[in-house]
Amino acid sequence: MSFAPFDWIDAEARRRATAGLVRTLRPRPAETELLDLASNDYLGLTRHPEVTAAAADAARRWGAGATGSRLVTGSTALHATLESELAAFCGFEAALVFSSGYAANLAALTALAGHGSLIVSDAGNHASIVDGCRLSRAVTAVVPHAEPDAVRKALHAHDGRALAVTDSVFSVDGDAAPLTELAAACRAEGAALLVDDAHGLGVLGEGGRGALAAVGLAGGEGIVATLTLSKSLGSQGGAVLGPARVIDHLVNTARTFIFDTGLAPAAAGGALGALGLLKREPERADRARAVATALYERLTAAGLTAARPDAAVVAVRAPSADTAVRWAADCRAAGVAVGCFRPPSVPDGISRLRLTARADLTPQEVSASVAAIVRTAPDGASVQRG
Ligand SMILES: Cc1ncc(COP(=O)(O)O)c(C=O)c1O
Repeated sequence: MSFAPFDWIDAEARRRATAGLVRTLRPRPAETELLDLASNDYLGLTRHPEVTAAAADAARRWGAGATGSRLVTGSTALHATLESELAAFCGFEAALVFSSGYAANLAALTALAGHGSLIVSDAGNHASIVDGCRLSRAVTAVVPHAEPDAVRKALHAHDGRALAVTDSVFSVDGDAAPLTELAAACRAEGAALLVDDAHGLGVLGEGGRGALAAVGLAGGEGIVATLTLSKSLGSQGGAVLGPARVIDHLVNTARTFIFDTGLAPAAAGGALGALGLLKREPERADRARAVATALYERLTAAGLTAARPDAAVVAVRAPSADTAVRWAADCRAAGVAVGCFRPPSVPDGISRLRLTARADLTPQEVSASVAAIVRTAPDGASVQRG
C-alpha cells in the first residue's frame, strides 16, 4: 500500500470547490485605489499618521517584540498605561491586554468558567467564544440568537457557578445583543455576564466607549467585557475588562495570558495612539454609525435586502454562496472592496456581502459604493417592493 496520509485533504478540497466554498488569500498592496468596505478599520485610524507614529515610536523605544510572556519580560510601562487607559475609557475598574481578541476570549471563558460550571452562549457568537467554551470544559448551553428568556431559563435550570456570554454586536448581521435584558437575567440568576465588544468599541456609546457604556452597564457588578484592539483602534491585540479581582484572577490562571508572548509594543503604542485620537475626536463614533445608516437606507431603497445596522456593520443578503463570491468580485472590479460571508461562517447558511461603514468615508465615497454594489447585484438579490 502506498503511503498517502493526506489524500483525504484533496477529497475535502474537491467537496469545497463543488460547494463554492473555496477560500483563497489575496495579499493587498500597500497603496490601492479600491474603496475599503471590507476591513474592520471602522474609524479609519489604522493608517492615521498619529497612530502609525505612536506604533513606530513604541517599537523604537521598546523593541519589535515584547521579548517574553507578560509574567516574565513581556510587560512594559506601555502595557500598564494601555490597560489603565482602556479601563478608564470604557468605564471598568481594571483591564488586561492580550496578543489578540481571540486570546482574550479564550482567557475570559477558561478562567471564569470551568469543570462543573455552566456557560450559556448565544447561537450567533463569534468563533473565538465558541472555542473558549470548548476549552473551558464547562457545560455549554447554546441558546437561540438574542433571546434573553432562553438565557434566563438555561441559567435557572443550573445549580452553581454560571456565566452567560454574548457578542455585543454580531459580526454577521451587525445587530446588537439585548444587553439590558441579558444583564437582568444574569442578575436574577446570580450569574456573570461576559460581553465581547469587538464591534461596539469605538462605535457605540458616548464617544465610542462601547456597547456596555451605551446601556449603563460598564463597570457593573458581575459584568466582564472583552475587546479587540484590531478594529476601531486600528492596531492589533485584545483586552479583558472587569472588576480588579477578575483581572487578578486572569493574571494568575488564564493560559492564553500566562503562556503567550506579550502584546508587541508597536501594537500597544498604536492602540494608545488611536485611543487618544478617539478621546479628542469623539464624533468619529457618530460618523461610523451615520455611514452605516446611509448605506443601509440607500441599498434597501434600491431593492436589496439588508439587516438594519445597530453599529457599523451592514450585511446585504446574497442568493447563494457562489453568487455572493461573484458579487464581491464584481464589486472589487468596480472599485469597491467588500467582505463576503458564507457557510461555515454564517450560522443560518445565508450568504451575505458584509460592508464596513468606515467613519472616514466621504459622502461621495458612500454614493460610489452604493452605486457599485447595486450595479453588480446578481439576479435574485433584489426584492420586489410594492
Ligand atoms: C466578535 C469578535 N470577537 C473576537 C474577535 C477576535 O479578535 P482578534 O482579531 O483581535 O483576535 C473578532 C474578530 O476578528 C470578532 O469579530
